[in-house]
Amino acid sequence: MPPLFPERASSMAYRVDNLYFFLLAITAFFAVLIAGLIVFFAVKYRRRSPDAIGEQIHGNMALELAWTGIPFVIVMVIFVWSASVFFAMAHAPDETLNIYVVGKQWMWKFQHLDGQREINELHVPVGRDIKLITTSEDVIHDFFVPAFRVKADVIPGRFVTIWFRPTRPGRYQLFCAEYCGTRHSRMTGEIVVMEPSEFQAWMSGGAPEGSLASTGQKLFADFACNTCHRPDAQGRGPVLDGLFGKQQALQNGQSVAVDEAYIRESILNPSAKITAGFQPIMPTFQGLVSEEQLLALIEYVKSLSTTPQEPAARPLPDAPAKGETTPSVKK
Ligand code: CUA
Repeated sequence: MPPLFPERASSMAYRVDNLYFFLLAITAFFAVLIAGLIVFFAVKYRRRSPDAIGEQIHGNMALELAWTGIPFVIVMVIFVWSASVFFAMAHAPDETLNIYVVGKQWMWKFQHLDGQREINELHVPVGRDIKLITTSEDVIHDFFVPAFRVKADVIPGRFVTIWFRPTRPGRYQLFCAEYCGTRHSRMTGEIVVMEPSEFQAWMSGGAPEGSLASTGQKLFADFACNTCHRPDAQGRGPVLDGLFGKQQALQNGQSVAVDEAYIRESILNPSAKITAGFQPIMPTFQGLVSEEQLLALIEYVKSLSTTPQEPAARPLPDAPAKGETTPSVKK
C-alpha cells in the first residue's frame, strides 16, 4: 500500500510491520468496542422517568478478573513480541559487511573498509548483512531509512551500531530524523542497493588511497604512535597486535573490552583507562585527529588482530567507469 507505507526492502521490514499492524488492530478493536459500548449503554440505560435512580452494583468477580486478565495477556504478548523484534534489530549477525558512518551538519559521510568514501549516498549489495558503525562529528543526528525500518540516533563521542539486510535492489531514501540545525531537513541521502556483481564492480572502481586500515597504518606512523606502541613489547605503550576484541586488564584492577569505543577513548583521552603495567605518559590527541582519522586508526588496530590480514586495496585499473562521482572527504 504505497500511499500509507514505505516500501519494504529489508529483512526486518516485515517483522516491524507485522508488530505495527498487530498494535494497530488491538487499538482499533478496543477503540471501536469502547465507543460502541458507550453509545449502546447510553441508549439502553438512559433515564426514562425524571425520578429514576440507578441501581448500585458492588463488585463482580468475573468481570474484574476478565478486565485484569485479558489486558495482562495482551500486554505480555506485545512485550514478548516487540522484545524479540528489538533484540533482532539490536544485535547484528556475526558476519557483516562493515561500513563507518559519520554524521555532520549537514551531511552523511560513509567510509567503506576498502577505502571508498561517499557523501549522502551509500552503495551496498543486496542480500548481505550490513553493519553501520555510526558516530557524529558535532551534534546528535538520526539515521533513518524508512524502507529498511531502520532508525537510530547518531551520537557524538559514541559508536552506535545499526544493521540491516537489504532484500531488494533499488534506491532508498535516507533521512536525518533528529533536529540538528538550520539545514536538518536537507540532511538526506540515498542508499543504493545493488546486485552483488554490480556492487563488486562499483567497489573496485574507486579507493585510490587503499583500504581504511592502510590509511590508519600510515596515520599510525605519521602521528608517531609506532614509537611507543611497538609489536615487540619493548615500547613504552601496550602492544596493539591481537588486542582488539580481547579483555584488557587495567591499572585499577578492572578490565575493559577492547572495542571501537575503547580505542577511540584511548586516543582522545589516554589517561581514562590505563593498561596494567604502563605509565600514563601518552599525550592526548584531542583536536589533532579528525573523526575520520580516528576511524582509520581504529580499523588499523582491528587489522592487527585479524589473521590473515584483511586484503589490501584492490587493484584499480580496468575497472568500468562509474556513472556517479564519489566526492572525497575534505577536512
Ligand atoms: Cu542531522 Cu537532523
